[in-house]
Amino acid sequence: MAATWSSIIGLILLLLPLAPSSSSYIMYRLGGDVFPTGRFFVRMKIGEPLTAYYLDIDTGSNVTWLECYHPVHGCHCSPGVNQLYRPALGNLRVECKDPFCDALHADLPDLPDTNPQCTREDPHQCHYKVEYVDGTSDGVLSNDTVSLAEGNNRPMVFGCGYNQRPRNPSQEPNQKPVHGILGLGNGIVGFAAQLKKQQVITKNVIGHCLGYGRNVGGYLFIGDYKFPPNGITWAPMIKYEPFYSPGQATVHLDGQQVYATGMSAVFDSGATYTYMPSQIYNPLLAKVVDLLGDAGKPAKDDPTLPRCWKKPESIESLDDVKNTFKTLELRFGNNIVMKIPPIKYLILSDYKNFCLGILNGSDVGENQRIIIGDISMQDMLVVYDNERGMMGWANIPCTTSRL
Ligand SMILES: *[C@@H]1O[C@H](CO)[C@@H](O)[C@H](O)[C@H]1NC(C)=O
Ligand SMILES: *[C@@H]1O[C@H](CO)[C@@H](O)[C@H](O)[C@H]1NC(C)=O
Ligand SMILES: *[C@@H]1O[C@H](CO)[C@@H](O)[C@H](O)[C@H]1NC(C)=O
Repeated sequence: MAATWSSIIGLILLLLPLAPSSSSYIMYRLGGDVFPTGRFFVRMKIGEPLTAYYLDIDTGSNVTWLECYHPVHGCHCSPGVNQLYRPALGNLRVECKDPFCDALHADLPDLPDTNPQCTREDPHQCHYKVEYVDGTSDGVLSNDTVSLAEGNNRPMVFGCGYNQRPRNPSQEPNQKPVHGILGLGNGIVGFAAQLKKQQVITKNVIGHCLGYGRNVGGYLFIGDYKFPPNGITWAPMIKYEPFYSPGQATVHLDGQQVYATGMSAVFDSGATYTYMPSQIYNPLLAKVVDLLGDAGKPAKDDPTLPRCWKKPESIESLDDVKNTFKTLELRFGNNIVMKIPPIKYLILSDYKNFCLGILNGSDVGENQRIIIGDISMQDMLVVYDNERGMMGWANIPCTTSRL
């Protein structure tokens, strides 16, 4: 059924960071996939002694954190995490007056002002808390060694999350636990901003290429990477969104507009699937069902995702679906279009059904924006250029064999 840990570990052994020391970018091989793993992750060595951890790459988060055993408070950690980060008390002395601790206010807008960053119990520790759709990471900042590449170790500041709360641990049975999150948001505390401050990279530019297919992985670069000059669709990033976004988009299926008004569409590598608010999701689902016609026999007993259909006879593999399912488009202003072919919004479940990888955002409290998750960014180079305030994407195969 699901991929076993042993096959994933086999792949993980290949995930060594690839960084020619003279270049001004860092490149990581990624492990994982959309299905069944549900995430893409880097392997990073952190702490004293350096220990390998797997971090989910998340362009929707500013703060990097690890599931952590606090020397005084221990850990309420997520179940199933096999390796906790164990800092010394000395690592946790990022003081309240430190500009880094201060920056958390800007970078974590949900952190209430009334909640002091340094609590009375821990006056010398900077508190953080991040809420996600599927849980919370709560803890204090740590300043510890991170190995960026063989022999290139740097002090980095990230969260020691010792009060973790996965909200619905049972909802995604296939998800393998990772040890934490690599925060790739554009905040001051973000991983790329820290690397730039330490002059490891000259430009705060992030790019990822997420592979299509089981265990394909992909790659991530941070810094001044020479991406292919042609074929990238560029769009200005809007400033009012907390996430990377080229702005409002209307949704079109098979050339027809699904919902009258546009909504902000954000790119979030921390989301496995794509989410649409119910105003869009409801008519979209109706249209998918309508276009499927007699070919669409619901597979109600498939627990993989909320909407699955039995595989029509005519379809052998996911690559054949384009005659049955239609291409989705996100249309931004200025004729900027992102095409999402069926293979980037469907998965083939272990029960051999097709399941819709677009989920109802309103079910998870997201009524405002379209979240473009990993499934729709497969075999696509996505670049977040925080220097120019531009983002771009290009359809390319994301195999790591060329690296
Ligand atoms: C982290 O530690 C390094 C030395 O190891 C120090 O130079 C840096 O200022 C510290 N950063 C913060 C935010 O405390
Ligand atoms: C990340 O940090 C930036 C800059 O401080 C902020 O504008 C943005 O809202 C933050 N994003 C999230 C998801 O918290
Ligand atoms: C989407 O979620 C909203 C809120 O939970 C719900 O009212 C709506 O019926 C859902 N749509 C579908 C098609 O299930």
